[in-house]
Amino acid sequence: MTEKLLTIKYCEYTSMDELAPEDRNLIEKAFEATASSYAPYSGFNVGAALLLSDGTIVKGANQENIAYPSGLCAERSALFAAGSNYSDKRVVTLAIVSAQNGVLLDEPATPCGACRQVMAETQMRYGEKMRVIMAGAKRIMIFDSVDDILPFIFDSKEVKRADI
Ligand code: THU
Repeated sequence: MTEKLLTIKYCEYTSMDELAPEDRNLIEKAFEATASSYAPYSGFNVGAALLLSDGTIVKGANQENIAYPSGLCAERSALFAAGSNYSDKRVVTLAIVSAQNGVLLDEPATPCGACRQVMAETQMRYGEKMRVIMAGAKRIMIFDSVDDILPFIFDSKEVKRADI
């Protein structure tokens, strides 16, 4: 038996003023997206904004449904919108925030496992690291790669395609 230790790296900031203007702008766009959140059941408004390789910004917000599992998180709304409309553009950075009653929450918005899985595939698809910014009013975490938030990802290479 070998015991192994896994370490991840991320940068933590306590104020938006410490961030690069490009990252601050992306967080602002994610906050703007929370206005389009449809969350009558949870009252929890999540916003995501993606920076694409050509500078395009794609926004997404959580969309709930009375048949609860039919709803979709903000991150996947944004990632699937980007995949649908700008599939030739790499996703460079994804910023996530959450808000309640129009107010940005203090603590960073940390994405659910399903969204991390989709982020991981997005990164694999474009073959370059995707940055992830989890932002709150009092604390911001920046990860240089999805690898740091989803180790031991289910790897599509393991799936053998059935003969067609
Ligand atoms: N939600 C997101 O939009 N992103 C996440 O990563 C986690 C949760 C949404 C889903 C639901 O509309 C609300 O937050 C409460 O769970």
